[in-house]
Amino acid sequence: MININYTKQYIDKDDKKAVLNVLNSDYLTQGKYITEFENKLSKFFNAKYCTTVSSGTAGLHLVGKALGWTKNDYVVTTPITFVASSNSIEYSGARTILCDIEEKFNTIDPNKLEKIIKNSILNNKKIKAVIAVDYAGMLCDWEALKYLSNKYKIILINDNCHALGSKFKNSNSYALNYAHVVIQSFHPAKNITTGEGGAVLTNSKIINDKVRSFRTHGVDYTKKRKYNWDYSIQNIGYNYRLTDIQCALGISQLKKIFKFTKKRNEIAKYYDLKITNDLIKLPLSKKHVYNSYNLYPVKINFNASKYNKLETYNLFKKNGISLQVHYKPIHFYEYYKKKYKFKRKDFPISEKFYQSVFSIPIYYKLQIKEQKKIVNLLNNII
Ligand SMILES: Cc1ncc(COP(=O)(O)O)c(C=O)c1O
Repeated sequence: MININYTKQYIDKDDKKAVLNVLNSDYLTQGKYITEFENKLSKFFNAKYCTTVSSGTAGLHLVGKALGWTKNDYVVTTPITFVASSNSIEYSGARTILCDIEEKFNTIDPNKLEKIIKNSILNNKKIKAVIAVDYAGMLCDWEALKYLSNKYKIILINDNCHALGSKFKNSNSYALNYAHVVIQSFHPAKNITTGEGGAVLTNSKIINDKVRSFRTHGVDYTKKRKYNWDYSIQNIGYNYRLTDIQCALGISQLKKIFKFTKKRNEIAKYYDLKITNDLIKLPLSKKHVYNSYNLYPVKINFNASKYNKLETYNLFKKNGISLQVHYKPIHFYEYYKKKYKFKRKDFPISEKFYQSVFSIPIYYKLQIKEQKKIVNLLNNII
């Protein structure tokens, strides 16, 4: 029986060779491939600084540390994101504020965000930052977000974990034109992979120096060392480093990013054309945006469909296809519900989205006959 997952990494012989090279070398970690991968990512994002880390989650954590979030601060993100986005706020003790998404593009709604900011000012709450997610590879309304960031002096973080290879106005390095910090993940479900891994990109030396220090136990690399064994440690940090093995894989994968996103776009185009069922809403395109299609989320009107969500999931499973849901809204998780007293209907667009959404398979090696099968199921059983 075939088993098609909603996502799958693609590893070729160059990737394997790159990893083997490191295994045969003297340094498995803290060697030259880390610097090389960071330089390549900096170039890709036209960023002054890049620090690789052991995961996207670690990157988000360190950004909160570097920005000095405390329990008196508030940070905004959306309900429709991976829980790491909001967990990273909670790590620092800061409080999570959720902002609903726009119905059309499934990304943070700038109008609702401004209302939240204005309300927080009235209530004397200091919103320090917004973590906006380029969900599925679709871009947030970054022009509107930057306007709000300037107007209200709020730091913008682009959780760009889905969007490596996406473009705005033809530029793949759009993210730092708007956000102060950009986070990447190289988990196998992402557009390139290092197994686990992530990166923090910024043009701020202050932020980068802190992230770098927290990545390695809090060692202050800006202080001159008298002896090689002497470190200055003024803050407690972590070991959140990426290894050279992973960085060599990352360098090799990054070379293929546009080959990967081109294929993802071809599959998306096929779905756009061939899924003709009126009960299904497909991802929309947006002017000036090239979507990397890390995910292809379809919204199904289960109220009018023959099968409910679970039955549909099981039917696909029986046919060898594993759908996934991205995401259960953050305010539905017990921890957040309890702490913030969130209620149903607090974020109606996100809730409606969750009721209807499935990510259908999209990845580099997804075969045409598999795409056909997925389309047939969607057109015929729903
Ligand atoms: C939107 C988003 N943010 C953050 C993360 C965390 O990345 P990682 O899995 O590398 O910790 C992910 C990855 O799953 C993600 O999809």
